[in-house]
Amino acid sequence: IKYRNAETKDEEAVLQLLRDHFYPDEPLNKSKGSHDKADEDFAIGTIKHGLCTIAEVFDASHPDGYIVGCRLSYPSAREDVEAEEPKTSPPTTDFEKIVAFLGMLEAKSNVFQRFNVEKIAQGHMLSVHKDFRGKGIAKQLYVENIELARKLGYPIYVCDCTSLFSAKLCEKLGMELTATMQFDEFADANGNAYYQPPPPHDFARSFALRL
Ligand code: ACO
Repeated sequence: IKYRNAETKDEEAVLQLLRDHFYPDEPLNKSKGSHDKADEDFAIGTIKHGLCTIAEVFDASHPDGYIVGCRLSYPSAREDVEAEEPKTSPPTTDFEKIVAFLGMLEAKSNVFQRFNVEKIAQGHMLSVHKDFRGKGIAKQLYVENIELARKLGYPIYVCDCTSLFSAKLCEKLGMELTATMQFDEFADANGNAYYQPPPPHDFARSFALRL
C-alpha cells in the first residue's frame, strides 16, 4: 500500500470509493440512509486544495494502482468562518443537515479562538474500502495527512469524528479532545433527532493537534 497526495485526476476514483464505502457506513449517513449531490461535490471539491491523502494498492490486476482509502481535508480560515451568517431557518437538504451538525460541533470546539490561530487544516472525511479495513490503513492515512498539513505550514489539524473508530484513532495519535456532542442535541423544532447512529457510535467528538 502506498500513500500519496490526492490529485484532481483522482477525483472520480475517490468519489467511487466514497459511494461504495463511506456513505453506506459512516454513522450520520448510515442513520439517515441518504446523501445528496451537494455532499459529494463538496467532498470531491476538497482535493483541489492539495490537502488530501489517498492509499493505493498495486497488484497484478491493478498495476497502475487502486484507491482503497482516503483522508480528505481542506484549508479553513478564521476570517471566513467568522464572517459566515448564522442560519435562521432549519436545514432541509441532506447536505445542509450535515453542515449544520458539524457546524454545531465546530462551534463547541472553537479552535480558532482556543489556539489563537488564523488558519487550520480541517479534516473532512476518512474512508477505507470494506475489504481493506482493520489493517491500519486509516491510522496511516491520518499520519500521512497530518504530516502533509505540517509541511504546508498549518499550525493546527482538526478532526471531527462521527465514528467511534476514528475517534479512537485520534486519541491514539495524541490529539486533544476539544468538543463532544450527543447525536440527539441536533434536533428539529419538535425535538426529534435528525440522526440516530447505531452502536457502538456513542457521540460525536472533535479533536485537534498542534503541528
Ligand atoms: N469494529 C470494531 N473496531 C473497528 C472497526 C469495526 N468495524 N473498524 C475499525 N475499528 C478499530 C480498529 O480495531 C482499530 O483499533 P485498534 O488499533 O485498537 O485495533 C481502529 O478502529 C482503526 O483501525 P484501522 O485499521 O486504522 O481503521 P480502518 O482502516 O479499518 O478504517 C474507518 C476505519 C475509516 C473508520 C473505516 O471503518 C471506514 O471507512 N468506515 C466508514 C466511514 C466512516 O465511518 N468514516 C469515519 C467517519 S468520521 C470522519 O470522517 C473523520
